[in-house]
Amino acid sequence: MDDNIHPIFDRLLQRSDREKRLGQQSKALWLTGLSGSGKSTLAQHLEQKLHNNGFFAQVLDGDNIRSGINNNLNFTPEDRIENIRRISEIAKLYLNSGIITINSFISPTRSIREMAKKIIGEEDFIEIYINTPIEICESRDVKGLYRKARAGEIKGFTGIDAPYEPPLKCALEVCTENTSISESVNKIYDYIKSYISLTNTDS
Ligand code: ADX
Repeated sequence: MDDNIHPIFDRLLQRSDREKRLGQQSKALWLTGLSGSGKSTLAQHLEQKLHNNGFFAQVLDGDNIRSGINNNLNFTPEDRIENIRRISEIAKLYLNSGIITINSFISPTRSIREMAKKIIGEEDFIEIYINTPIEICESRDVKGLYRKARAGEIKGFTGIDAPYEPPLKCALEVCTENTSISESVNKIYDYIKSYISLTNTDS
């Protein structure tokens, strides 16, 4: 770090003060999975469910972040690392302001997700694998990108000619193949509820 940069760590207002104000514990939920696996859809429905139940949550999503703050990044391995590094720093800012983030990014390799966990902090990072077989993602092909990748019009497409490494160990795995959106959302919600709820001793 530059010698002339002095981050302030001793602010008067703490994360816990903000969490109390919002009546929750902030966490970074990290949804990983292939393109077309259903991450964004589940993220949006989960955001709505959290909102309806009095939680303050914000979705951070690949396509949105990549058209804004990360619009100078591509899909090379280096750019994917930088993409996730910046997003993790953003998620950390939200975390410190007491807000739950639902991060929806392919984040294709174990080392990329390790980096995210390290930046965010292990105790605040909840990794959720959205497990949808590539055949299903490809048959849905909502954005038409698998077709383009197969035709060679997109190079380095995750799952086709770029790697996707499923988590070896994650907090939760959601198999979407034979599960409805609301069932999957309920499964995630039930799992995270105790982590995001303020316990009695906190109030
Ligand atoms: S990540 O690999 O860096 O985590 P991210 O989640 O931000 O990816 O963006 C993925 C989205 O970008 C996909 O859902 C898809 O719409 C689009 N996309 C465009 N090119 C590619 C590619 N080569 N590989 C994967 N996704 C791509």
